[in-house]
Amino acid sequence: MRTQVAIIGGGPAGLLLGQLLHNAGIDTVILEKHSRSHVLRRIRAGVLEQGTVDLLREAGVGARMDRVGFTHNGVYLAFKNSSFRIDFKEAIGRSVTVYGQTEVTRDLYDTRAAAGAQTLHGVSDVELHDVEREAPYVTFTHDGQGHRLDCDYIAGCDGFHGVSRKSIPANILIEYEKIYPFGWLGVLSETPPASDELIYANSDRGFALASMRNANLSRYYIQVPLSDTVEDWSDAAFWDELRRRLPVATAEAMQTGPSIEKSIAPLRSFISEPMRYGRLFICGDAAHIVPPTGAKGLNLAASDVHYLYQALSRFYRHQDVAAIATYSHRALRRVWHSVRFSWTMTNLLHRFPEQTMFDQRLQESELAFLKSSKAAQTAFAENYTGLPF
Ligand code: APR
Ligand code: PHB
Repeated sequence: MRTQVAIIGGGPAGLLLGQLLHNAGIDTVILEKHSRSHVLRRIRAGVLEQGTVDLLREAGVGARMDRVGFTHNGVYLAFKNSSFRIDFKEAIGRSVTVYGQTEVTRDLYDTRAAAGAQTLHGVSDVELHDVEREAPYVTFTHDGQGHRLDCDYIAGCDGFHGVSRKSIPANILIEYEKIYPFGWLGVLSETPPASDELIYANSDRGFALASMRNANLSRYYIQVPLSDTVEDWSDAAFWDELRRRLPVATAEAMQTGPSIEKSIAPLRSFISEPMRYGRLFICGDAAHIVPPTGAKGLNLAASDVHYLYQALSRFYRHQDVAAIATYSHRALRRVWHSVRFSWTMTNLLHRFPEQTMFDQRLQESELAFLKSSKAAQTAFAENYTGLPF
């Protein structure tokens, strides 16, 4: 088999890149380890920055998002049992769109299938070869048979556990990591959201987040110790704990119901450099992970895709390799900004096991500053709604 760009991984990063390249007349094959339904079972954050929304529209996959997504012009931060709102529109004239990552992925799969572009599901034994040479290729097993895919470039969009990053020699790859000493227990329930906009809460009992998917689908999270399992948390125990962490008025008005999904995710910050090695590009979660505080994961994948799409389309249109040479640098500059913001928000809102009263007063002082300072709110809004690509 031969293609122009071999894409490893059919998550949002691989699919979005594949769609943009397909629209530009560049041939791609996506190799995905799992089935489509398996990929679509993953529940992830649901807040899209303006740049992500624009890129999805540019790729021609924005119609359903524009129809059923919700524009949010602000967010609530809660501490010491009261909350305040940061008005994005007033601060910087921008907003975010609430539309689940699962829906984004579904739209991307549907559009790719309609376009007739090739996606192979259930591939295994994926190996990358000769990425530092002129003619790289990928070998893999599909339907019990070995295959070889020759290509010009390889896009490694295969998530944190993928093989692409590991194909960069150890003496070149630098990895930065921070593991946080807690996880998020998330619950999805068919109940109306507790609030018109998201509430991020710093409480004495730990962090809580009230989020949503639509008028009758809510998504909530609470910070839990890493040793907890889903079995430790009955629905009743979850709602009880969530209520204690949200502002009283919200907690009293909140409607609860059976959970339709419940999972625990650990929190980490991770960045690997460089994001290009020869003819291999690393993109999305394969290159970096952020804690979910701030919902930057999918948005960072989208900005990587933006830079990579620009680089590849310039190469195929004008034989211009300048943007290919600078992809890693440009993508990483924005990655570090989002990593910093997610880290700041995580530190501001969670209870850390070793936290002293001094640390706690600092958190409260920073939140009080954010509540009263227009300049601080502007900086928050600028980061939350997404720095420009
Ligand atoms: N071969 C082929 N496919 C693979 C392999 C492999 N060896 N390893 C992993 N994959 C696939 C996974 O099955 C998955 O579908 O790569 C895909 C990677 O998708 P994601 O993990 O969703 O990563 P990405 O597309 O970069 O999306 C980033 O999704 O993970 C969230 O929080 C993250 O919101 C962010 C966004
Ligand atoms: C979500 O809706 O799942 C969500 C929203 C905001 C976050 C994280 C997750 O920061």
